Parts: sequence; C-alpha cells; structure tokens
Amino acid sequence: MDKELIRTKKNTEITEKDINSRVTLNGWVHRRRDHGGIIFIDLRDISGIIQIVFDPSFSEEAHKTAEKLRNEFVISVSGIVKKRSDETINPNMKTGTIEVFIDKITILNTSETLPFSLDEYHKVNEDVRLEYRFLDLRRPTMQKNLINRAKFVNNIRKFLTENNFIEIETPVLTKSTPEGARDFLVPSRLNIGSFYALPQSPQLFKQILMISGFDRYYQIVKCFRDEDLRADRQPEFTQIDIEMSFINKDIIIELMEKMISFAIKETYGIEIKIPFRRMSFKDAMHKYGSDRPDLRFGLELVDVGDIVKDSSFNVFTNALKNKGIVYAINAKGGAKISRKEIDEYTQYVSTFGAKGLAWIKATENGLESSITKFFTKEQLDKLTERLTVEPGDIIFFGADHPSIVFQSLGNLRLKLGKDLNLIDENKLEFLWVVDFPSFEWNEDEKRHVAVHHPFTSPKSEHIKLIDEGKLEDVEAEAYDMVLNGIELGGGSIRIHNPEIQKKVFKALSITEKEAEEKFGFLLKALSFGAPPHGGIAFGLDRIIMLLEKAQSIRDVIAFPKTQRGHCLMTGSPSLVEQSQLKELGIKIEKEKK
Ligand code: AMO
Ligand code: AMP
Repeated sequence: MDKELIRTKKNTEITEKDINSRVTLNGWVHRRRDHGGIIFIDLRDISGIIQIVFDPSFSEEAHKTAEKLRNEFVISVSGIVKKRSDETINPNMKTGTIEVFIDKITILNTSETLPFSLDEYHKVNEDVRLEYRFLDLRRPTMQKNLINRAKFVNNIRKFLTENNFIEIETPVLTKSTPEGARDFLVPSRLNIGSFYALPQSPQLFKQILMISGFDRYYQIVKCFRDEDLRADRQPEFTQIDIEMSFINKDIIIELMEKMISFAIKETYGIEIKIPFRRMSFKDAMHKYGSDRPDLRFGLELVDVGDIVKDSSFNVFTNALKNKGIVYAINAKGGAKISRKEIDEYTQYVSTFGAKGLAWIKATENGLESSITKFFTKEQLDKLTERLTVEPGDIIFFGADHPSIVFQSLGNLRLKLGKDLNLIDENKLEFLWVVDFPSFEWNEDEKRHVAVHHPFTSPKSEHIKLIDEGKLEDVEAEAYDMVLNGIELGGGSIRIHNPEIQKKVFKALSITEKEAEEKFGFLLKALSFGAPPHGGIAFGLDRIIMLLEKAQSIRDVIAFPKTQRGHCLMTGSPSLVEQSQLKELGIKIEKEKK
C-alpha cells in the first residue's frame, strides 16, 4: 500500500477529540445509503464501524468515486472528522456522535455480490455461512467472539504463568489415549501397517511430566475425538490442560476456580463469586437427574417412592418392586399446560426410555388427574405437602429403573425450565460436581468401565471396596466443573502407586497384557518414583460459547466442522491420490451396498 493510503487510526479510535482534524481510514463498505445526493457509508474495520460521508459540496470527486461503491469493497479514505447534528446522533454506536467527511478515496479492491448479507446472516442456512466462512468471520459478532476468546486465553496464560505453571507441548502424532472416544488414526508411511493416533487429550504425557518433576504443567492444546457431534462437541477442540504434583483435590479445585473467575473478570469484567458450590454426584442425580445440573432454576426432582408404595397404582408399585424408583417434579405454575402439551412431554421423555409420564394438576377445585383414584387422601396430602403443591401447579412422575427416571425427568426438567421461562439467561451458575463413582457397568461390553479414565484414583478409604468386589460403591477423587448445565472441565487425582493401578485395571477387566501394550510406558514410569499428582482439563470452546451466549460451539471456533465432520470451506475430508494410498500401503474397500 502507498504510504499515504495507510490509516492514521482505526475506526473506533476516533473520538470527539478528533473533531476538525484530518484522518485516513481503511476498511470495508459495510452498508451504503444514498440520501438525496449525499452518500453515507458505514465503514467497518476490526475495531468497529464509523459513518463516513460523501457530500458533493465537500468533494465532488470523492462523491463521484463513492457512487461506484458496493458492499464489501475495500477502501482507503481521508477526510475531516465532524460532529453529527443532534438529530443524527446514534447512541448505539461507539462513534455515534461523529462522522468523517471524505475528500479522498481510493478503492483498494472490489467484491463480488455476497451470497448472504452480513447483517442478515440468520436468513441463510448455517452451511452457507460455513462455506463462505471468510465472509461469516467478517461479522462483528464473530470477530468479537474470537477476540474475546484470544483475550480469555491470554488471561489464563497470565494466571498460570504467575502461579509457576510451565507450558509444555506434547505430541500430536501419538498413541491411543484413554478418554474413551474413538481415535482419529494417521497411517505411518515409514512403518506400513502402523498408525499414530491423534491425542484425545495429553493425559498420559502430562502425568509423565509430573513423574519427570515439572511440578506444574499446562498447555492450551488441540484434542481430537471421533465421536458423534452435537451443539457443544467438535471432533477437534481445545483444552486448557493442567497437571500438578504434591497436591490434593481441594488445592486443585480452589486454584482452578480462582483461575476461571480471574480470566472472566479480566476478559468480561464480570465478578464471579468463589468458592463455587460443590455437590456430590449422588445429590446431582437425585435432585436434578443429571451429573451436570443447570442451577439457574429450581424444579428439583423429589423421591416419592415411600408415599406411593402402598397405592393401588400398578405402574408405580410394580416399578418399586422391580428395584425401580418413583420420582416426581412439581412444575410450578404449569397447570396451564394443555393435554396436547402433556402428550408432547410424554413423547419427549419416551426418547429417554420412559414408558409414560403420569401427572396430577392442582387447580382451585382440587387435584385433577386420571390417576388420583389410585391414591388415598392421606397419600395425596403427603404428595402435595412434600412437593409444596399449590393451585396452578402440575406434578409429573417417573417410575422405572433409576437411570431411566433420572434421564427422563432430568431432561424434562430442562425442557420445562425453558418452556415455563424459568431460566435467567444472564446468570452464570458455577458448580463443582464431586464424589463421582469410579466404575460403571457397561451393558454392551458386559464389564465395568471407568467413569473418568483408568488412571483416576479411587478415594483411599474406598480401595478396600475394590478388594471386596463392591465396585459400584467405589468413589473417585474426581471433580467436574459445571456451568449452566454444561460440563466445562473435568479432572482427578491420579493413581501414583503401581499396585493400586493394577487393582483398578483388574476391576476394569483390562488384562496385564493389554495394560502393558496400551499404557506400558506409563506403568513403567509410575514405578520410578511417581509423585502424588492430579489435574484437570477445561473445554475452552465450551467456556467461550457460554460466556458469549453463542448458540453453538461453532460460533466461537474460526474454522469448525459440521455435524457430519465436514469443513465446508476447504471441502475436507476429501479423497486422496491413489499414489498416496499406495505409499501408505492402504487399499480402500468399496462400501458394500
Ligand atoms: P474430559 O474428557 O472430561 O477430560 O475432557 C475435558 C473437557 O473437554 C471438553 N470436551 C470437549 N469440547 C468440545 N468438543 C468435544 N468433543 C469435547 N470433549 C471434551 C469438555 C470436557 O469437560 N484428560 C482428561 C482431563 C483430566 O483428567 O485432567 C480429559 O480429557 O469441556
Ligand atoms: P396407563 O395405566 O398405562 O394408562 O398409564 C397411566 C398414566 O401413567 C399415564 O399418564 C402414563 O403416561 C403414566 N405412566 C405409564 N408408565 C409410566 C412410568 N413408567 N412412569 C411414569 N408414568 C407412567
């Protein structure tokens, strides 16, 4: 660029102090309005928007050039800053009290007509935005998301550096790690038939770094998981990954809530109260039907098994006889919910395995439901008392195996929270969920699997339960940080004793041979003086998604993938040359029809 075309300031750096002075600006034509011969342009750059004015009485030549301008043309303009007249002041813009009268303009580049208007991006399918990501990223909201993301990461780095954490990179081409999702594999040309796995997390490396004596490690790191994608999941995502030695659970929890609240304060100016609430896994499941409860609203689940066990309602009594539970939820003020809507909720909970959704409405005339006839007056009184039922409320019931009841009522609670407008979108409700079980039964694999990962330390007082075979009672030294119903991060104290590690592998039906093949290097390292250690990893994308109130994790990632794992801009994944496959010793089998 010629020197005289280069900006003297960014758009929103100009203030009323610059009135009457000359400035040069660079940017894109965001919007163009022609008002009886005077052309107004909203000029956009990374800092934001300023109004520039082409008035033929100020400069006929500049005005003439401005007539050629279309959206997204790139221009350099010079002119004089002026105060806007009172009636044209725009209080919604940072530069709303000023405008720049232009007498010199150079068109630096033109643009094709856009496939969608940046102001009306929501009218097009997200696929179009993803294909034209370079345009989508010009939108001020997207730029704000990514700028705040960068600031947030900087503040995390600042906090961790001040607290003596050392950032260390770990390999991207590595061996399968134990987070439990499917691996992305990379074939090795130099070792035909062998594959690297992309890391699902740096878990084993960070533990090794502790064994090597680094004491406090962190890394802002890409992780890769080949799993089914959702609004808060991507196949590659970023973790704030942390590991510490000579610590305990409380030290990690306290330092991490300090870190998160520091970064939020510095980035967003929002004060977050610490310490965060802590809730046991059991309480979370029993009260909210979820291990990541959204605490922005109430509607707690309530155990009513003891009240209904002697009723004549077979649905409930049979469930209780079959090791099931009966829980209820009082949707306050929900009696206005229609029969049709109840049918829709019944359909909704059926997707979580519920066989029905019994309900009782409380009206001014008493209780209303087809099931009240199965209960004595005393039982109904007890129900209304325990659930603090008032006229205008509706109670929903779930009766089944605990996992089905918790899932269906937990999700129903979230849906009711939305439908009844109980959620304050401005709240940030942080929570630690602790006392997770170590093991859970996996029906498909017919074995116990680790709830976190196989290196998570059971509580020391629960080790004996492993010996006694009471695996489901063993609790782990694990903790998850939850915000507004989304898991932001999870971690644990690790096993540093090889004997306990062997015990846990055995409980997980991992044979010595398998353990040796998969994690032999870690086991070896553990036997050479491993310090007590533990850590945590946060999903950076998820944190920013929540803080930016973005609808999807894709809105806080520059180049995300679709639900089907495609990058629509580059067209990946794509076919490769036969010669490349040959070099790797790979033959593609035609998909069987
Ligand atoms: P975990 O598997 O719980 O723990 O992952 C930590 C955090 O990473 C985020 N996350 C994701 N974000 C976007 N897309 C995904 N597909 C995705 N998967 C996970 C979540 C999650 O809380 N090594 C352990 C941590 C440890 O024990 O230190 C681990 O990776 O916010
Ligand atoms: P039924 O006896 O099948 O007509 O069911 C009576 C009511 O109980 C209906 O409102 C059903 O939706 C509900 N219901 C049936 N099974 C269950 C269950 N397992 N949990 C909760 N409600 C149920």
